[in-house]
Amino acid sequence: MRIAHISDIHANYGSDFNNTTFEKAVKLLNALETDLIFISGDLTTEGLLREYEYASERLSKIKGKKAIVPGNHDEKNLGYKLFPEFFGNTDFIRTDGNLTLIGLATSEPDKADGRLGRNRHRLIKRGIEKKKDLTIIGFHHHLVPIPNSGREHNIIEDAGETLDIILRNNVPLVLMGHRHVPYAVKVHNTLLVNAGTFSCNRTRAHFGNTFNIIDIKHETIVISVMNIEEGKQRKMVQFTPHDGCCINRYYEENMRID
Ligand SMILES: [Fe+2]
Repeated sequence: MRIAHISDIHANYGSDFNNTTFEKAVKLLNALETDLIFISGDLTTEGLLREYEYASERLSKIKGKKAIVPGNHDEKNLGYKLFPEFFGNTDFIRTDGNLTLIGLATSEPDKADGRLGRNRHRLIKRGIEKKKDLTIIGFHHHLVPIPNSGREHNIIEDAGETLDIILRNNVPLVLMGHRHVPYAVKVHNTLLVNAGTFSCNRTRAHFGNTFNIIDIKHETIVISVMNIEEGKQRKMVQFTPHDGCCINRYYEENMRID
């Protein structure tokens, strides 16, 4: 199974959105033959109707099944009323074969901060109870600090409680965005993964625009980062949930995983 994880598209008529990068990224993405594309929020920059329309038109160029949650930018300026109209439920449990995907909105209207709260914690538990071979949780804001993304802010307010539920239940994979840099770290038996920005001009240092490719085969999860400008992908992390084996190029630079 192959899942593409893309984030922080930032469709906008100002300086945020880079359409040339978007088109290049879509070409790379459409060539991958993914089973699912998970989009972890910030499809727009100001949450405006014209941006929602633009984002929706742009996203129609991406082939395949999509699952989408909102980001903080999508909730601005009454954007929270537009999101369901354009992209469906903000919170969902989707099952597909052996996979359960729990998508959640961490964002709240006109706030940059993120929070899940009791009801969404209950939804996580309901999704976990489905006991599929693979449970994935996806939302916009980050759960742990992300290096190389500048001064720490906007980590979800109830990160402690959320992390506790995830770790106690050995959820293998959590997908997030918001910080515009790719990152992965294993905590206990869970791999926490951030996607960088797909098409926003606000990139960090040399990270550029990227998206993540998740390949799941024989109980092993391999996550690669696609550098959109170069059109090249590089393996970032390899994780086997049942034995906890994890090779992460961020911390084990000498170990080859490709
Ligand atoms: Fe964001």
